Amino acid sequence: MSPAHSHTFRPFRIAVLASGRGSNLAALIAARAAGRLPVELVGVFSDRAGAGALEIARAHGIPALALSPKDSADRTAFDESLFSRIAAVQPDLIVCAGYMRLISEAAVRRFAGRMINIHPSLLPKYPGLHTHARAIAAGEREHGASVHYVIPALDAGPVIAQARVPVLDGDTPETLAGRVLEREHPLLVASVRWIAEGRVRQAGAAVALDGRPLPAPLLLGPDQELHPPCESSTA
Ligand code: GRF
Repeated sequence: MSPAHSHTFRPFRIAVLASGRGSNLAALIAARAAGRLPVELVGVFSDRAGAGALEIARAHGIPALALSPKDSADRTAFDESLFSRIAAVQPDLIVCAGYMRLISEAAVRRFAGRMINIHPSLLPKYPGLHTHARAIAAGEREHGASVHYVIPALDAGPVIAQARVPVLDGDTPETLAGRVLEREHPLLVASVRWIAEGRVRQAGAAVALDGRPLPAPLLLGPDQELHPPCESSTA
C-alpha cells in the first residue's frame, strides 16, 4: 500500500482578508459551490466591521471576524492580533481580496509564499490606489488585473496571473473598473485553483509553474482559464 493511502484527504484551506464589498469573495464561494474550486473557506477577516464581505461570509456559514485597528497601538500590534486569529484557522493560503490596509513586514514574512493579493492593474504598472483613473489619464489602451504573491513592498510581489481588458473611448474610472472587475472574478478563482492543485507556487522572487520558473504571468483567456504566456504568443 502506498503511503498516500494511509493519509486522510485534507482539503486546501483558504482564509480571505477583505475591507469592502466582497464580490471577489462571492466569486470564490460561487465557484466552490459549483464544484469548480476544491477548497474549504475557513474564515473571512476584515479591518472594517461594516464590510460587505463579512455579511456574505456569514450568509454562507463561513466564520467571519472584524478587528478594529483603533483597538491596537500601531500597525505591528494590529497585525499581530489579526494574523494570530488567521493562523488559528490554519489556512494553506490567505487571499487578500480588496484588503485596503498595508500589512506589516512581520505578518508578510510569517505567511511568505502563502499569501496572495488581487490588484486592479497590470502590475508592475499602477501599484497603489486609483488605478483605473491613472490608467485613463495616462492614455493606456489596455488595463486589467493581477494576482500576485504578497511581499513587504506594496503590490510588488511576483505576479502569478493577469487578465487584460481594453480601455475604450469615453471610459470613466467607473466603467473601466466594472470591465476589470468582471475579469477579476474568474482570474482569482483560477489562480486559487492552480495554487490549491499544487501547480503554482512562489519560488523566491519568481513564480513556479509545475516546478519551472514562469517567464511571464499566466494569462486569463476568454475560456475563463489560465494559460502560460507562450500559448497566447504568435511569435
Ligand atoms: C477589487 O477591485 C480588487 O482588485 C481591489 O479591491 C476591489 C475589491 O472588490 N483590490 P471586492 O470587495 O472583492 O468586491
